[in-house]
Amino acid sequence: MVSAEFWGDIAKEFYWKTPCPGPFLRYNFDVTKGKIFIEWMKGASTNICYNVLDRNVHEKKLGDKVAFYWEGNEPGETTQITYHELLVQVCQFSNVLRKQGIQKGDRVAIYMPMIPELVVAMLACARIGALHSIVFAGFSSESLCERILDSSCSLLITTDAFYRGEKLVNLKELADEALQKCQEKDFPVRCCIVVKHLGRAELGMGDSPSQSPPIKRSCPDVQISWNQGIDLWWHELMQEAGDECEPEWCDAEDPLFILYTSGSTGKPKGVVHTVGGYMLYVATTFKYVFDFHAEDVFWCTADIGWITGHSYVTYGPLANGATSVLFEGIPTYPDVNRLWSIVDKYKVTKFYTAPTAIRLLMKFGDEPVTKHSRASLQVLGTVGEPINPEAWLWYHQVVGAQRCPIVDTFWQTETGGHMLTPLPGATPMKPGSAVFKQPWPGIMRTVYGNHERFETTYFKKFPGYYVTGDGCRRDQDGYYWITGRIDDMLNVSGHLLSTAEVESALVEHEAVAEAAVVGHPHPVKGECLYCFVTLCDGHTFSPKLTEELKKQIREKIGPIATPDYIQNAPGLPKTRSGKIMRRVLRKIAQNDHDLGDTSTVADPSVISHLFSHRCLTIQ
Ligand code: WT7
Repeated sequence: MVSAEFWGDIAKEFYWKTPCPGPFLRYNFDVTKGKIFIEWMKGASTNICYNVLDRNVHEKKLGDKVAFYWEGNEPGETTQITYHELLVQVCQFSNVLRKQGIQKGDRVAIYMPMIPELVVAMLACARIGALHSIVFAGFSSESLCERILDSSCSLLITTDAFYRGEKLVNLKELADEALQKCQEKDFPVRCCIVVKHLGRAELGMGDSPSQSPPIKRSCPDVQISWNQGIDLWWHELMQEAGDECEPEWCDAEDPLFILYTSGSTGKPKGVVHTVGGYMLYVATTFKYVFDFHAEDVFWCTADIGWITGHSYVTYGPLANGATSVLFEGIPTYPDVNRLWSIVDKYKVTKFYTAPTAIRLLMKFGDEPVTKHSRASLQVLGTVGEPINPEAWLWYHQVVGAQRCPIVDTFWQTETGGHMLTPLPGATPMKPGSAVFKQPWPGIMRTVYGNHERFETTYFKKFPGYYVTGDGCRRDQDGYYWITGRIDDMLNVSGHLLSTAEVESALVEHEAVAEAAVVGHPHPVKGECLYCFVTLCDGHTFSPKLTEELKKQIREKIGPIATPDYIQNAPGLPKTRSGKIMRRVLRKIAQNDHDLGDTSTVADPSVISHLFSHRCLTIQ
């Protein structure tokens, strides 16, 4: 039962400028009865930034409590930021944004690595009622441009450059390219605020803990081009900004942010979350799913560029006054000890990561884990994709030393927070399953600028229900087992991609006439991309072309979408009406000759050709 009463009690724990005047919940989930809508506490006004910062500092007296331990890419590059310090910086940056003309309802794009300023930027948007649209810093300039245009963002916040492991990412250059592309499409972004991150050392900051840390590997080699009249340095603007800022009081149903997720048609969907419901939902799921206690040190390894980071690095932990680790690096740099040494260093109590990271580390054996104490760990979580029993058992037996419950949390960008999960200590565990909880206030409200797409994608298949797009099996004990996507979506290392977006990136290459992309099992990524390409006349398939196609995908989408296999396909199995049979292609990729019914294939000879020319190794 959706319990307005249950959530009503929870709402009392938050600050409301004006209380909810009317029904606590109104909604229609049934397309046959009219427009789909969801309204929690409409008419009540609040501010999420005020709730997660000001109240913690002033009412709950948590000002001196550490909000984040920041751990940079390079071990030893660290800083910490208290609730009070975070509030001051957020107020300053809110004033900066207002001074740049950003108002309630405006969209602000954020393209940054995992540094404290990213949290400051998003909370400042929330404070002044602007919608943040965070684009993962691993996405290409093309993807950034597409997202800026889709929600017509008026300002971009980015960073000079950063290291991801050994790799230097010149983010400003990518941001410049994106803004150039926006300009070409008649959408000039008027302002770009740049955080000096690799160049921090030059700023002479780092003496006080409230200031940014010195970066050891500062990189004088990074050449930053500067666009006069558009680019502004973050540190210069902050110096001039006042540290008090009245929050914008927002309706509970005002939009809080947009976050893009892949859609099965190829064009990403701008998932819209609203202030009140999202706040209640992430605060509550964080508290119960991780069995939160005031002295916890929480660590979610997800990047804030994904929903997991929005909900369980920023909003959920801060709403509870928690201390978290904010990690810029990767699990394998400088070596595979990194995660466990951070766990010991900060005495992490609750640890939340993705199955792909677990599978990656599993390959290096138990020793890098067991040589660390890990005595502080109490609860382990996973998210992003189904976890295979081997990985679950290793996580439980080796990482958690059989002491720590595992919460396998099933949810989506669209759901805002956890949907199916065991509760630690309360639910007997089975590897790989997740247990149903409750309908929720954190559900998305629309696709930005396209409500019809929202209705079609999530509500048309089964009128009266929200459809996640995942298959699921319920066992005799009532446990739900997620079996994977039922649409044309792929899950690579916990990141959703649509076959259509990769295919359209491939056919944009002049040599490619047609492309079909399927998911293929991969020991670490869970799934990887296996692409079939039909070439235009006059072009020949070669390793050089394969490289070009990979590059093309990296540039159009981002490195996460780089395929592992590209096969030359002079013909593709199609139905007589011309629909590509991906089901058959998936089997070909796996060398599984049990194809089921192929009577609808227009030209069966293409199948045997494809079988005999399969890619046998990762390219
Ligand atoms: C899709 C949502 C939720 C944040 C990260 C991904 C898959 C997610 C699980 C899980 C099995 C899972 C589903 C879902 N998924 N968590 N615990 N077990 N599958 O967010 O990019 O919106 O992807 O990820 O397929 O629909 P997202």
